[in-house]
Amino acid sequence: MNVRPAKAGDLVNIQACNMQNLPENYSMRFWLYCALTWPQVSFVAEDHKGRIIGYVLSSIEGGGADDVPLYGHVNSLSVLRPHRRRGLAKRLMELSYEAMRTVYSAVYVELHVRVSNAGAIALYTKALGFSTVKVDKKYYGDGENAYIMRRKLKSSKRDR
Ligand SMILES: CC(C)(COP(=O)(O)OP(=O)(O)OC[C@H]1O[C@@H](n2cnc3c(N)ncnc32)[C@H](O)[C@@H]1OP(=O)(O)O)[C@@H](O)C(=O)NCCC(=O)NCCS
Repeated sequence: MNVRPAKAGDLVNIQACNMQNLPENYSMRFWLYCALTWPQVSFVAEDHKGRIIGYVLSSIEGGGADDVPLYGHVNSLSVLRPHRRRGLAKRLMELSYEAMRTVYSAVYVELHVRVSNAGAIALYTKALGFSTVKVDKKYYGDGENAYIMRRKLKSSKRDR
């Protein structure tokens, strides 16, 4: 298994992986926009034949006139079922937010997760140190609430 930065040429396979794993699907235009605008913060995992088995697709937000600092946003994360519980999602997330911190000086990383998605919530809280900052009511198309979760990105290894 290999984990590497995502390229525009991966997007069709990333989208296929997304459609197998999640009800939240994005247009190819959105995938392309993220991959071209912030190419350093999205990653894929591939198997020994080069097939995509997981991805994280992230963007950089904030930094506008409203005093919100630059921060990273994880738009979508998934790993194909046969390859789960091998540390792939954790690795993809860590690479993404390390790039957010070093390339963009992002202050924190944020994401939305369904309140019923116990597996992902365990990944974010237990394995990656995220905390819930807010509940976004009816965030999802089917009316389910989302937790907004955040993890601070510290500036040096020493103060982690
Ligand atoms: C959530 C998801 C991305 C996790 O991927 P993964 O590669 O299996 O996760 P990892 O192997 O990196 O897990 C690391 C740790 O997170 C926790 N964790 C991950 N999945 C878990 C689950 N289903 N139940 C409980 N804990 C879980 C565990 O602590 C795990 O460590 P362990 O296996 O040593 O116990 C994957 O299950 C998935 O693609 N789900 C469908 C899509 C989805 O829900 N995406 C997130 C949307 S917000």
